[in-house]
Amino acid sequence: MKIGILTSGGDCPGLNAVIRGAVLKGVISHGAEFVGFRWGWRGVVEGDTIPITRYDVRGLSKQGGTILGSSRTNPFEGGGGPEAIQRMLDQQRIDAIIAIGGEGTLAAARRLTDAGLNIVGVPKTIDNDLAATDYSFGFDTAVEIATEAIDRLRTTAESHGRCMVVEVMGRHVGWIALHSGMAGGAHAILIPEQPQSVEQICEWVEAVRNRGRAPLVVVAEGFRLPDMAEAHSHKGLDAFRRPRLGGIAELLAPLIEERTGIESRDTVLGHTQRGGAPSAFDRVFATRLGMAAVEAAYDKMWGSMVTLRGTDIEIVSIAEAIGTLNSVPQTRYDEARILFG
Ligand code: F6P
Repeated sequence: MKIGILTSGGDCPGLNAVIRGAVLKGVISHGAEFVGFRWGWRGVVEGDTIPITRYDVRGLSKQGGTILGSSRTNPFEGGGGPEAIQRMLDQQRIDAIIAIGGEGTLAAARRLTDAGLNIVGVPKTIDNDLAATDYSFGFDTAVEIATEAIDRLRTTAESHGRCMVVEVMGRHVGWIALHSGMAGGAHAILIPEQPQSVEQICEWVEAVRNRGRAPLVVVAEGFRLPDMAEAHSHKGLDAFRRPRLGGIAELLAPLIEERTGIESRDTVLGHTQRGGAPSAFDRVFATRLGMAAVEAAYDKMWGSMVTLRGTDIEIVSIAEAIGTLNSVPQTRYDEARILFG
């Protein structure tokens, strides 16, 4: 079998480990041949491929980013669509596609599978917002990076008696904030699922200051104050016409300073959370997903995707898997909230 792999959407630590896992499993167990599509769905639409041999994936599981490049191209636009893509696959004698991506990529994979294409999906996102998998790879690494940043910000905050407001990614869910905030001992964690008033935030901050500590607030980019209809966005729209989030920490820090009199600073961690080497957990997890995706292709489970359930890798249908957001449940927030203030 000749399999084409693509990485699409925002990049994520562990993408290369999936590619390596798939190629090694396919070559060793089945004698498969692999190509990579360059720049996500764009490479599929344009037939832009490069061969990937087992030698090309040597040492790849620890490498951040994606050797194939990624983009947020829609495969139904720019001369794409199922017929054109199938023609390209036939010309290049490619039997199946492994599509590694988030919600948008998987939704496109599902539509193309419905039209008869042979596709298996691998979910990826640092946000951990896909309901069909217990965790998504990249999340653990992002939490690790955010936690290290929080630890560093804490020492400078303590030196000056300042309040630090640290903003992490996550789009419309608060998983990165919850985990890094708990790991870093944050005094307040603000997530999209749980709007909090400025008064409540300042109460937590003042309680910390009154104990002689420097308050540390972790805020998810999608957090909203009760009077905000949408998450804060001042950077326009992305390729899918979704608002680019980010900057809520820059709003909160001056509000906290003004109301509490505590000198406050904000730090937006941004894309550092997606860069660099994946954690050991993500390397193992992503490798297993890549291997399982190849098995799913050999089992002709088109329209399926590989997921994590407990410690097992399982196969589910993309159609059932997408469309539901993996939000932070109330119980998880209540657990963390005991530690605030
Ligand atoms: O979905 C992953 C993510 O990093 C989000 O947390 C963030 O809002 C978004 O992508 C940023 O996208 P871009 O890389 O296009 O700026």
